[in-house]
Amino acid sequence: MPISERLGQLGSGVFARMDHRKRAYGLSAACLERPLLDLSLGSTDLQPPVPVLEAMAEALLAPASAGYCLNAATLPFREAAAAWVQQRFGVTVDPQREVLLLVGSQEGTAHLPLAVLNPGERALLLDPGYPSHRGGVLLAGGKPVLLPLLADQGWRPCWEQLSPSQTAQLRLLVLGFPHNPTATVGQQQWLEEALALAQASGAVLAHDNPYVDLALEGEAPALLRCDGWREGGIEFFSFSKGWCLGGFRLAFAVGAAPLIEALAQVKAVVDFNQSLALQAGAITALQQFADWPAQLLPIYRGRRDAMAAALKAQGWSVPHASMALYHWLPLPEALLGLGSEAACASLLERSGVALTPGVGFGPGGEGWLRLALVAEQAVLQEAALRLGAALQQCGDD
Ligand SMILES: Cc1ncc(COP(=O)(O)O)c(C=O)c1O
Repeated sequence: MPISERLGQLGSGVFARMDHRKRAYGLSAACLERPLLDLSLGSTDLQPPVPVLEAMAEALLAPASAGYCLNAATLPFREAAAAWVQQRFGVTVDPQREVLLLVGSQEGTAHLPLAVLNPGERALLLDPGYPSHRGGVLLAGGKPVLLPLLADQGWRPCWEQLSPSQTAQLRLLVLGFPHNPTATVGQQQWLEEALALAQASGAVLAHDNPYVDLALEGEAPALLRCDGWREGGIEFFSFSKGWCLGGFRLAFAVGAAPLIEALAQVKAVVDFNQSLALQAGAITALQQFADWPAQLLPIYRGRRDAMAAALKAQGWSVPHASMALYHWLPLPEALLGLGSEAACASLLERSGVALTPGVGFGPGGEGWLRLALVAEQAVLQEAALRLGAALQQCGDD
């Protein structure tokens, strides 16, 4: 069967591998005793605003919602997004030329390299970083240049690791702060530095920002706050995290008009837009529930603190997480020899708790595990107890 070589480069993907393992665990006898506690996905258990769902439900019955939706019909959504940008960042953007509806920021960031890279051209990616960033570059035939982020540098992008000739060859830089998986909010200054670097080498700067409203401390960085974003910048926002709408696949990009046009050209080959019914919900979220993400923050703070205390009580080292949704945990001593992928498999088998192996976010994630705070505190406490017992077993083996 002819399968493309680029799929070989892509590999199977960390979420697909975990999916397989979770299914196997679900069929095992152990699952009857200890049901699966899935903390391996950033898919929240928290709920979206009910009127958002009602707006979708009502619009679902309108005949236009069943039809294909070309770009022109997304204008009301793009206008609502532009108004949100104005309110959120004090920046005026043109909904006609600088905003694009997406089927998730994953989809947008994965398609962007097709719009801006020629085969063989280089793209800088954070390591660890979100898997679709690398996947998109590989699908476009681009060459990833990994910028290691280090714990002892506070996960700051250390540009001095790049030689001048490496920098000059870059055509695309992909950043994302607040940062998944390291649970670090990051600093506006880091984006300013990235934009200066991108502009000096004539590269595009893409900033993936689905957690912009989910900083637990301080203010999340935003590319739209950097002067000069219109010269080669594009930023991605999502409804998945702040409005708890991950399954509905809604997001948007705001950026330099030529980049928005190029991405729209790629997308025109691949998909029509999300249904008008889903857009009606997204518009309601932006216009009436801009404060929804802020209401989630105390819940995530409570979960973060409770989980950190519960894991520490089991002897785990838990670095401070400054954004919602995740803990990024160094592998405990008893699991160090295994590596993160085998460690996750072993913990799942012994405890029924699914975490994500850090190596799934790039080689720089090896030695780490990601835990998503996507369950109530009582469930998280139970997970910590089970993980502690599993760790004890591993130490005894
Ligand atoms: C950095 C980052 N980008 C994109 C996504 C996917 O977002 P969406 O649901 O908008 O595709 C995630 C989800 O975890 C993420 O962490």
